[in-house]
Amino acid sequence: MSRTKLIAGNWKLNPVDDKGALELLRQLRTRLAPFTKAGIAVMPPFTMLHLAVDILKDTRIAVGGQNLSGEESGAFTGEVSAPMLKSAGCEYVIIGHSERRQFFNETDQGVNRKIMAALKHALNPIVCVGETLEQREAGQEESVVREQVVQALSEIKTTEIHPVIIAYEPVWAIGTGRTASPTQAQAMHLFIRRSVEELYDAQIAQAMLILYGGSVKPDNARELLSQKDIDGALVGGACLKADSFAEIVAAGESIL
Ligand code: PGA
Repeated sequence: MSRTKLIAGNWKLNPVDDKGALELLRQLRTRLAPFTKAGIAVMPPFTMLHLAVDILKDTRIAVGGQNLSGEESGAFTGEVSAPMLKSAGCEYVIIGHSERRQFFNETDQGVNRKIMAALKHALNPIVCVGETLEQREAGQEESVVREQVVQALSEIKTTEIHPVIIAYEPVWAIGTGRTASPTQAQAMHLFIRRSVEELYDAQIAQAMLILYGGSVKPDNARELLSQKDIDGALVGGACLKADSFAEIVAAGESIL
């Protein structure tokens, strides 16, 4: 089965104002125009979503949120819900990024609730999993990632799972310039796919997009993206410059 490639840019807490966002969005619009095959998505901060949807309308570049509430509406100060993202024009949402797990106490149970909320409102969840350096050095990377996958997908039915995307992001590779080797990444992606097969079935596992994230740059993208079970990239630092993001998209397209 041939899966597409998806290149997603997680802007995190950048840029600091709408002027910077507008500039980046306009450059992305121009630089990404030639690409016709790979899926492309950008995830700006919440306040810049409308701007992104507006500037990128009539392009192939989708927009997503970086997080969402497990709640739909009500007295939850500071939260943003799935129907809000949907009505802002989002197609994707990142869930359970390691920075949220680390700095905002996000749990596997919370991740599970958020996936359900996203699915209910037809958003494609990009669910992040990955081990810390300590866990890898202790040889626990597979058990940690498996547990995150099992918990995240708990009670999500075979009929509902189709839009779910998993992003394997080893914590030690995020923002560090230290990327997993293509062999290490491929091994974990295959392990995740096998875990999904055990939880669901072979067809679902084969169809699922599994992205790699953690210091993906123009110079390592092609090798990572050509691995059999790596279906795209979740890009942090390198997505803040239109040129480097476009080079990563080009690497993805060159393999399709
Ligand atoms: P990075 O971030 O590319 O800057 O390592 C990836 C991510 O956190 O999604």
